[in-house]
Amino acid sequence: MVKKYFFLGILLLFAVIGVHGQKATAETPPMGFMTWNYFAENISESQLKEVVDAMVSTGLRDAGYNFIFIDDGWQGGRDAKNNLIPDPKKFPSGMKAFADYVHSKGMKLGIYSNAAELTCAGYTGSYGFEEKDAKTFAQWGIDYLKYDYCHAPSDWKVAIERYEKMAIALQNSGREITFGICEWGDREPWLWGKKAGGQLWRTTADVRDKWKSIEPYKNAKELHRVGAGILDIVNRNAELSSYAGINGWNDADMLVIGLYGKKGPSGDLGGVGCTDTEYRSQMSLWCLMAAPLMITCDVRNMNETTHKILMNHDVIKINQDKLGKQATRIVNSNDWQIFLKPLQNGDIAIGILNTADNKRSFNLKLDELGITNKKTSENLWTKTTSAVKNNQIKITADSHETILLRLSK
Ligand code: GAL
Repeated sequence: MVKKYFFLGILLLFAVIGVHGQKATAETPPMGFMTWNYFAENISESQLKEVVDAMVSTGLRDAGYNFIFIDDGWQGGRDAKNNLIPDPKKFPSGMKAFADYVHSKGMKLGIYSNAAELTCAGYTGSYGFEEKDAKTFAQWGIDYLKYDYCHAPSDWKVAIERYEKMAIALQNSGREITFGICEWGDREPWLWGKKAGGQLWRTTADVRDKWKSIEPYKNAKELHRVGAGILDIVNRNAELSSYAGINGWNDADMLVIGLYGKKGPSGDLGGVGCTDTEYRSQMSLWCLMAAPLMITCDVRNMNETTHKILMNHDVIKINQDKLGKQATRIVNSNDWQIFLKPLQNGDIAIGILNTADNKRSFNLKLDELGITNKKTSENLWTKTTSAVKNNQIKITADSHETILLRLSK
């Protein structure tokens, strides 16, 4: 009798899984390389293989950047049976062969589509073909889908429905596919993204390769027009810390580190490039904010500074910490921003950003931040550890620099 109920239970479980499928997990923020900022639509199988090889040979894959992500521009329309196909000129061996290559190098493959008939760059989207496309992606061996929202109705209800539709299709595709919602924060996806089946959701307009917008703007939506710099994105994303967590991350868009003002999508709207100090700040702040880390510079030809910024294991550890907390911004004054990120082992990561135009110093009083029991402070960029005296730490930061410390007992 007991046995009979046991088997019935198992059958029921399979039935439930069969109907609702398998949701993907993202226990820590996804990391990898995304094609958009550097290559835009000019992508090809041969270049991307070089990128995969560079991710391996430079150590980036082993540092945790294990996704290769093909953004917009890979599509070649649909075949006679309405199956989505890659552009045969760009991917002459087909997407399955490319996915096999990526997997053979110990990496995972991400791809892009859109919740309307056409994508942002005017290629074939998935609207009306969600199940079919999700199955195609699964057959190719895709591990992550970024689902954009150009040319789609602006209201929340339709957006949520369209995202849910693709999420369910992915869950029933037979493959675990991470689902990234990309409607740029316009409909506050941090409120509904996880329920709609996403593991991450973009919170802002596209990042440009600049520190901050020089044109004034009234609200986050206007960043589409003026172009979002690193600081503009921080100012939006930092407010959303309570919505982030394991399997549901605030996506602050790609890393512009190492692009140095290259012409292309991130070079538009004032994207003239940043200083290495500003790039280092982006790395620190994205790690504190538990944001996905998507490299976009040409990893085949990085300079040493870029490589060092991207490869700082101690900083990456802050991003990938298993507690899965996004830092809270506890100070936001004219010149300083201070971020606190609790870590799994009881340590605290603290980021101090100098937003002023000159070098500045001050005494960080830990009591005032509610921190009383930390004895050592490790600077994760200079790699120096010092004892905390009188519960205070002297901070000196260059303009736009983020000092990143790990405080331990
Ligand atoms: C935008 C998106 C970018 C990129 C681009 C491709 O909507 O935010 O990250 O994917 O579309 O056309």
